[in-house]
Amino acid sequence: MYTTHDGTKLYYEVHGSGEPVLFVHGFPLSSRLWQDAAATLGDRYRIIVPDLRGHGRSDASDVTSMTQMAGDLVAVLDAAEERRPVILVGLSMGGYIAMEMARLQPLRIRALVLADTRHDADAQAKVQEREAVARRVLAEGSQVVADGMVSKLFADTAPQRLKDEWRGIMAATPPKGVAAALRAMGARIDSAETLKGWQAPCLIVVGESDVITPPEVARQMQSLVTGSQLEIILGAGHMTPVEQPGLFTGALRAFFAKLPPLTA
Ligand code: MLT
Repeated sequence: MYTTHDGTKLYYEVHGSGEPVLFVHGFPLSSRLWQDAAATLGDRYRIIVPDLRGHGRSDASDVTSMTQMAGDLVAVLDAAEERRPVILVGLSMGGYIAMEMARLQPLRIRALVLADTRHDADAQAKVQEREAVARRVLAEGSQVVADGMVSKLFADTAPQRLKDEWRGIMAATPPKGVAAALRAMGARIDSAETLKGWQAPCLIVVGESDVITPPEVARQMQSLVTGSQLEIILGAGHMTPVEQPGLFTGALRAFFAKLPPLTA
């Protein structure tokens, strides 16, 4: 299904029925990241899975921001006629956007799951590196990012077919979308204050071999959110939902089951 927000056409899928869960993928990935989770958890939950702007089947805009993409998520919920507060699950850049939505629209969120992500903003050197990569991608194509990232995304033990599949998905992400997301990540604010003020349940998940957002960052995040829970997924790098789908969805299901009943 499609909806439009800020002039950009956005793709989303809805699976299953029950209490709502919104899944937000990372950079430069797609809703495919959540295929196993949607199939498994759709037995008891209403799973809403967008492609972020500039990714998957959603159109790209020249410029974007975490704030705009958080607004895109709200627009998708509205299009799906989902007015109940959701369990919001974001991985990596999806986590940055989830934290921005938590800052701006906390009442639309019942619980947060932050997977393989980080709360802090980019250092200046990282902002410059992202800008240089954005320019190369616009000149040479998204293959630049796909080739650079694939070895960092997965644990050494991940099967080659998984790496090949995701290299293909990243390379197919349009250069305009990749560049806009890189610049938006470089401009994002620090979310520590949002996490310190978060009052609802929060689960932090990280692959034990994640080299992009390592377990020590997840531990720092856990120390910021009162009452939060940390799950370290064995045998996974940064792509926990596809590297260890059983362990990942098992951790989510256990966390969901303990949430207070949805009264809205
Ligand atoms: C992601 O997986 O979304 C990105 O690697 C995050 C980032 O580059 O900061």
